[in-house]
Amino acid sequence: MQTAQSQALWRAAQEFMPGGVNSPVRSFRSVGIDPLFIDRGEGAYVIDADGNRFVDYVLSWGPMILGHAAPPVVEAVARQAERGTSFGAPTAGEVELGRRIVEALPSVERVRLVNSGTEATMSALRLARAATGRDLVVKFAGCYHGHVDSLLVQAGSGAATMGVPDSAGVPAAFASTTLVLPYNDIEAVRTLFTARGQEIAAVIVEPVAANMGVVPPAEGFLAGLRAVTRQYGALLIFDEVITGFRLGYGGAQGYYGIKPDLTCLGKIIGGGMPVGAYGGPAAIMSLVAPTGPVYQAGTLAGNPLATAAGVATLDGLRAEGTYERLASYMGALAEGLRRAARAAGVPVTVNQVGSMLTLFFHPGPVTDWESAARADREKYARFFRSMLAQGIYLPPSQFEAWFASTCHGEAELEATLEAAQKAFREL
Ligand SMILES: Cc1ncc(COP(=O)(O)O)c(C=O)c1O
Repeated sequence: MQTAQSQALWRAAQEFMPGGVNSPVRSFRSVGIDPLFIDRGEGAYVIDADGNRFVDYVLSWGPMILGHAAPPVVEAVARQAERGTSFGAPTAGEVELGRRIVEALPSVERVRLVNSGTEATMSALRLARAATGRDLVVKFAGCYHGHVDSLLVQAGSGAATMGVPDSAGVPAAFASTTLVLPYNDIEAVRTLFTARGQEIAAVIVEPVAANMGVVPPAEGFLAGLRAVTRQYGALLIFDEVITGFRLGYGGAQGYYGIKPDLTCLGKIIGGGMPVGAYGGPAAIMSLVAPTGPVYQAGTLAGNPLATAAGVATLDGLRAEGTYERLASYMGALAEGLRRAARAAGVPVTVNQVGSMLTLFFHPGPVTDWESAARADREKYARFFRSMLAQGIYLPPSQFEAWFASTCHGEAELEATLEAAQKAFREL
């Protein structure tokens, strides 16, 4: 594999940007090599600056569910670009994207578009605190909700612990408004609510965790969250930044049949352009400015290029059988990975839900952050490097989801499994 162009760009990047990147995992630090610079994408593939071609399972960390440079998305963005890229005034594209989101998610009657998933969760928390008049928020260890100050708080195993910030620069006072519990532990949630339920504004959760690697909700976990939040008058916030329009057109809430109070979206609804959104019942959303006292705004919010890409992407997902095909691809990949690992005598756990999957180098089961954290990161790094050398671009971290697009088919499946067999044998 030639890497001269990527290497030259990497040297330059480090002169201008902290760590050479604009988002930390891109630096490939946890897999022990320098990152590749991507020149372009075509369907299920990315092509780097040296012309190497890879089957892509990162897909921009989820948004590119129709594959890279999907013609309807490219055409929609090009058409809009010719008419102007931002006006800071209402546009028809916002109405079109908003209508599709509201029609897809029965829990969402009104939606506000923002520029990133981080803005969506940050704004949803502000709204939840305003709506309840309470300050505390419950999150789960290993769930990521963007780099919102008060959500950059991770663990405290077992019972509820007051949050300790994970990042420098987060005031302890902010972190202390976040209570962290183990994912999938509904008893811990009930115990916490029994003690402090009247102070809790909201529980925020990834309905399928995807940021500690993919970890599905245990039977009854989401229903339990719904029941306990309702009982104590707290809001249930589904962070569907990843799962929205990925698990199904109705997101994880449609997939599992649980109605949250507020929903956060991002990624797919922008078709690869910067976007986020939060929404819920009209009565709660009316608390947001200009109708209510919760201030939240954005120069580029509802940007015409983003709404054009988002509308084209959502319309592409309406094609008959889309989600069945996506899940069937990932199911076959999961089964093939398990078989190949077994044949090579490598203990792994493959967690797969719909078109999301993580291969954990750990015999499992992986059900929460504590069990995920036991995975062998060094083994993953070696597996990653072998796969990359064979033309398969995986997420450069043990704790991320692999994604499939509608462009991933037989040829990509075969290439991936053939490479995996070799990579497992090398371990
Ligand atoms: C579940 C979840 N919520 C929120 C975010 C933050 O989104 P963004 O990176 O667009 O700010 C992410 C990002 O990966 C995410 O996975």
